[in-house]
Amino acid sequence: MKHLHTLCFPAVILAFIALSCQHDPDESVKPGPPTDDCDTTLVTYTSSVVPILQDNCYSCHSGTVPSGGLDLSNFEQLAFVAQNGSLSGAINHKPGFTPMPDGLPKLSDCDINTLTIWIRDTTFTDPEIGHECDPDTVYFQNEILPLLISSCGVTGCHDPGTAQDGVILTDYASIMQTADVRPGNPDGSDLYEKITDSDPDDRMPPPPNQPLNAEQIARIERWILQGAQNNHCENTSCDTLNVTFSGQIFPVIQNTCLGCHSGPNPTGILLLTNHSQIASVAASGRLLGAIKHQNGYQPMPQNGAQLNQCIITQFEKWISDGTPNN
Ligand code: HEC
Ligand code: HEC
Repeated sequence: MKHLHTLCFPAVILAFIALSCQHDPDESVKPGPPTDDCDTTLVTYTSSVVPILQDNCYSCHSGTVPSGGLDLSNFEQLAFVAQNGSLSGAINHKPGFTPMPDGLPKLSDCDINTLTIWIRDTTFTDPEIGHECDPDTVYFQNEILPLLISSCGVTGCHDPGTAQDGVILTDYASIMQTADVRPGNPDGSDLYEKITDSDPDDRMPPPPNQPLNAEQIARIERWILQGAQNNHCENTSCDTLNVTFSGQIFPVIQNTCLGCHSGPNPTGILLLTNHSQIASVAASGRLLGAIKHQNGYQPMPQNGAQLNQCIITQFEKWISDGTPNN
């Protein structure tokens, strides 16, 4: 009985608030994502995406002769159009795409919202595709995304909240679309053009931030030349015994943290630009606390995926060795 009470009471209050709002014509309605009838707290492929496609798309895009040669009941084909931007272009009726569903009214805001969240939050990396790292291949999830998040996808610049010039650099689909990445063609890609612009006023990241270094620029160029895939790899041979500052620790910091933890420092942000700064943060326990996402520490890298277990173990080893500058 007590149970029922605690559940009903807030419901009654909510209903009352909802009613009183309806009765107040002066109450300005704030635009925003619909919250009442559009639940986007847990968007998954099977429970959220499939039902929308079933109702609106499978009639044409499945079966033996799917429209446009596109079978949306096939995950790989759906992932393909989700990643290359045409799914979003089609359902949002963006210029340059055939508006979908073909000849029918646009999907509801809630359906579009749901699909957009799914596209944004899904890496589409087939576990089959993630394999042993090949030294000649540049991997988006391992090497490109962390660099772009830390150098560009920060608050005030190209995170989803700020989206300067409409450019968002914190996930694959947004990077491809909003930085106009053309697979195989670095010079035709806005992303590459911006990081290599010789005019400091146009160059990204803008002064007083340091430009990306030659190795980082070459890495992005190579990734685009190799097809700008959303790929990732696993280093199954993880050496956690012979860990050095220059060999393992600093390269990770450079690739994943420095974009945020460096610079002219007007905001007093923690600096991680050299051995002594990193060693002193390590000594305070904050370095491990942050990368292990321990309680009481801000989880790092901010806005990005947690470092993989191999790297975390290497940091632990380096710290237990006494943070040598080797
Ligand atoms: C009435 C049939 C029909 C329905 C329903 C339909 N489509 Fe299509 N779709 C087509 C046809 C035909 C094409 C090929 C159009 C073209 O090539 O110009 C197409 C092409 C596409 C493309 C490629 C567009 C481009 O410009 O590259 C995408 C993506 C797509 N559909 C997604 C969807 C989605 C998502 C839905 C459901 C929300 C949907 N379609 C519903 C008929 C349909
Ligand atoms: C997108 C920007 C961004 C990235 C990337 C990032 N940080 Fe941070 N980090 C911040 C901000 C903002 C703070 C809070 C201000 C501060 O303490 O400097 C912070 C705080 C920290 C703290 C203090 C945490 C605490 O609770 O005491 C540590 C340690 C840290 N970062 C380490 C790292 C490491 C290591 C990486 C890379 C693996 C990293 N950060 C990547 C923005 C970032």
